[in-house]
Amino acid sequence: MARAAIALVLVAIGLCCPILRTAAQSSHETMVQAHAADRNEKKGLNGSAVADQVCLQCHQDQSTYEATSHHKTSQTSSKESILGSFRTDGSSVLMIADPAKAEDSPGLYFKMEQKADGYYQTAVAGWADQLRTRSEKIDIVIGSGKRGQSYLYWHGDQLFELPVSYWSEGHRWINSPGYKNGTMNFARPITPRCMECHAGFIQQSTRDLSSNRYRKDSLVVGITCEVCHGPGEKHVALHTSGRSGGLTGEAIVNPAKLSRDRQVDICALCHNGNQSEEKAAAFSFSPGEPLYKYFHPDLGDTAEHPDVHGNQVGLLKKSRCYTSSSSMSCSTCHDTHAQEHEPAWYSSRCLTCHQPESCGMSKTLGKKIVGACVGCHMSVEPTTAFNFDTVGEPLKPTMQNHWIRIPDPATAAARMLPVVHQSFPSPSLSPH
Ligand code: HEC
Ligand code: HEC
Ligand code: HEC
Ligand code: HEC
Ligand code: HEC
Ligand code: HEC
Ligand code: HEC
Repeated sequence: MARAAIALVLVAIGLCCPILRTAAQSSHETMVQAHAADRNEKKGLNGSAVADQVCLQCHQDQSTYEATSHHKTSQTSSKESILGSFRTDGSSVLMIADPAKAEDSPGLYFKMEQKADGYYQTAVAGWADQLRTRSEKIDIVIGSGKRGQSYLYWHGDQLFELPVSYWSEGHRWINSPGYKNGTMNFARPITPRCMECHAGFIQQSTRDLSSNRYRKDSLVVGITCEVCHGPGEKHVALHTSGRSGGLTGEAIVNPAKLSRDRQVDICALCHNGNQSEEKAAAFSFSPGEPLYKYFHPDLGDTAEHPDVHGNQVGLLKKSRCYTSSSSMSCSTCHDTHAQEHEPAWYSSRCLTCHQPESCGMSKTLGKKIVGACVGCHMSVEPTTAFNFDTVGEPLKPTMQNHWIRIPDPATAAARMLPVVHQSFPSPSLSPH
């Protein structure tokens, strides 16, 4: 008897659940709208109100976030944050292809110097007693160094990219993306979009949306919790005061409670390849809102291969796994609070929806197929639109193609190799 009653209750809950879920979702939506209004009000004052450290006081489970590339994607300059060499053994110098032929600055080379007040990049051109130099301080480091790093300097309230970047795989200095080899150029402005993808917040000091003038003291380095969870001030106040009565999910966005489209929009802000035309200022998007309110959707996006940014969102959305299931999102495979896994681990995610036997190759491969799905169905490819001008061999960054699809059986066998040995080609610097 008791058992039947429990079963009945369970059935009842099961039936109710969709209704409960819809109610939860719509209250979450109301909160998202309130956040958007909040954010718009704050825009221009302080986009990031709560430091990650404050969130982590109560959310210790998420403290692994501090070791991630997102957290480290922008930093102030220090011995620890700059990966390139300042040693005096020659490794701190970037020679260009043929200094004698450098168009407007013959003899040009770059040296990286550690001085009493910080780290500098110095361009030196000319010969003997006619040397011309220009030196700028490394103020901000962009890139965790997974592939590489670029460096920025302040000139008054203007932010510029320095001419020399660092390439992690080659352990050496290289010309910054977008800077032509052999020119003494320090003039590439840093746009607000660049900062939106690589920092928690920065406030522009003019109304011109594309200007590189900022309020220096407004910079929040690293992608912060609030970038994905929205403003947290009210949430913190509520839980600090104890007024929440132990309720979960008060006044903060939990992406898991959003519709799949809105979840993926959070990642798409930065992982959608080269965004199409913008509708609003950088840093105005608030998690939970539809991204199309901020960017015109790129209807002409027919890309089949990763571009320099990877375009994981655009490519994943082409996959049948994505279109034929309602649950696949970036979180199916990535936990943004923790460091990435070994490539082979991701194949276990495929098996949350597929059986190894559903693959025609399972007979030939036997047990080896488990752990090898990604290598054949999400290939590692060189990115397109890559134009990098530096000494020596051309740098070819590779990316995981997020379009999950049936590979050409003829090339599929060859793709097995790197997967089994788990030695994926390391990607190099992602240029912009
Ligand atoms: C504000 C911009 C931004 C948002 C939002 C964002 N990312 Fe990223 N993501 C980046 C940048 C920049 C990097 C490169 C970091 C680096 O190495 O410097 C990155 C790197 C990654 C990586 C590679 C990590 C590694 O260690 O190699 C993964 C995976 C990733 N993001 C997934 C996601 C997912 C999933 C979401 C949505 C939940 C998301 N990102 C949201 C900007 C963003
Ligand atoms: C639309 C968002 C976006 C914009 C704008 C953008 N980036 Fe990135 N950037 C990314 C993402 C995402 C990655 C990681 C690529 C990947 O692994 O898929 C990245 C990677 C990088 C890396 C390599 C990081 C590493 O650890 O390997 C550097 C350096 C970098 N960007 C510098 C810049 C600079 C400088 C600008 C502006 C001039 C800029 N980016 C503009 C999103 C962006
Ligand atoms: C790049 C985006 C991103 C950043 C940055 C980020 N989160 Fe999350 N967070 C997510 C996503 C996505 C989910 C939902 C995961 C899922 O679908 O299960 C989530 C879920 C959570 C949850 C709900 C509990 C859980 O594990 O499901 C908490 C708490 C949380 N995040 C705290 C934090 C804190 C604290 C920080 C900063 C230290 C942070 N997050 C930074 C994307 C992010
Ligand atoms: C004073 C303690 C405290 C602080 C500080 C705090 N939180 Fe929470 N947070 C909680 C509690 C308690 C819950 C509900 C129980 C749970 O889910 O862990 C919660 C829940 C969450 C959730 C899940 C919400 C849901 O709807 O499921 C997210 C996401 C989250 N917090 C993110 C953050 C972020 C981001 C910050 C910093 C801006 C932050 N929290 C700061 C106490 C805190
Ligand atoms: C959230 C569930 C889910 C996950 C996770 C998932 N898939 Fe799928 N996948 C599907 C669905 C649904 C289809 C549609 C066909 C079907 O019903 O089998 C599909 C189709 C496919 C197809 C056929 C593609 C085509 O164009 O015909 C391949 C190949 C595939 N998946 C491989 C993978 C691999 C490899 C992974 C891991 C990297 C993976 N899937 C992860 C749900 C998923
Ligand atoms: C079916 C599993 C799966 C899903 C879903 C998925 N990824 Fe990935 N992702 C991978 C694998 C596998 C790698 C390569 C990991 C490695 O080499 O360490 C990767 C790598 C990345 C990287 C690092 C750059 C690169 O190309 O190596 C970024 C950034 C990223 N994913 C973002 C996303 C975003 C954003 C989404 C949602 C649109 C997403 N991923 C969904 C499996 C997945
Ligand atoms: C050696 C490369 C290789 C590996 C490893 C591999 N596949 Fe496949 N897969 C293929 C090829 C080729 C096809 C298409 C021809 C076929 O089905 O015989 C295919 C087809 C599929 C299909 C589509 C079946 C259909 O008829 O729609 C699914 C789903 C799939 N694979 C899932 C997986 C999963 C899950 C794994 C890991 C357990 C995996 N594959 C590992 C090469 C591979």
